[in-house]
Amino acid sequence: MKFDGQVPVHVAIVMDGNGRWANARGLTRVEGHRAGEAALMDVIEGAIEAGVKYLTVFAFSTENWKRSPEEVKFLMNYNREVLRRRRDELDGWNVRIRWAGRRPKLWPTVIDELLTAEKLTSKNKGLTFTMAVNYGSRIEIVDAINQMLEDSKSGKIKGSVTEKTVQKYLLTKDLPDVDLFIRSSGEQRISNFLLWQSAYAEFVFLDVLWPDFSRKHLFEAIQQYAKRNRRFGGAVDKPKKAKPTTR
Ligand code: FPP
Repeated sequence: MKFDGQVPVHVAIVMDGNGRWANARGLTRVEGHRAGEAALMDVIEGAIEAGVKYLTVFAFSTENWKRSPEEVKFLMNYNREVLRRRRDELDGWNVRIRWAGRRPKLWPTVIDELLTAEKLTSKNKGLTFTMAVNYGSRIEIVDAINQMLEDSKSGKIKGSVTEKTVQKYLLTKDLPDVDLFIRSSGEQRISNFLLWQSAYAEFVFLDVLWPDFSRKHLFEAIQQYAKRNRRFGGAVDKPKKAKPTTR
């Protein structure tokens, strides 16, 4: 796949719409999540094909605990199962799997599976695929602030905190800023995903429910991204030549 313009280094995706996809077909929400797995695998392959270096997906948020106990239980089991089933395939694709998330509340067996996948793929140099599981950006920033306060008291942080210091305390400390932020399903929200990291991201919202999403949609989002003019707060003054006015 060739793109006319720059390919984003870091793509973040909110994989939204599984529940609506399932309910529209008379299926239960968990059937929608099941259908989301194939979409995710296709998008990972597409990201590799496109030359994306970092792909980060929202698999379970710190707010998702509010869902029904059945759905929460399903998602916990499913995250673990998908990792176990797919880790060798991803390893074969030279993918480095990473976890971004908090430990409190998260099932220990899910944490174990995430750490096993991280270890197995730690030497891979291809795509870095980060699964955000039990992740929320505000609490990530609050955790970082509390850790910085402690480290300041103990003398580990000397002087004042800079943007670089904050970056080092985030769950995504090894990842570059997000270039392209995609959300499926037609909703146009960030939903507490990578707030600090997406300060200058380009946003693309696609009206496709996640189980129907494929690399084709990723490529469409990258095409849109390639056409954007990223200024990072800067500006260039280029007034158009005024047409001579006739009176
Ligand atoms: C959002 O759709 C999706 C999730 C909260 C879970 C994401 C899980 C997958 C894509 C399954 C496969 C992947 C892994 C990593 C296990 P929603 O439930 O909010 O849908 P709705 O907005 O239609 O209700």
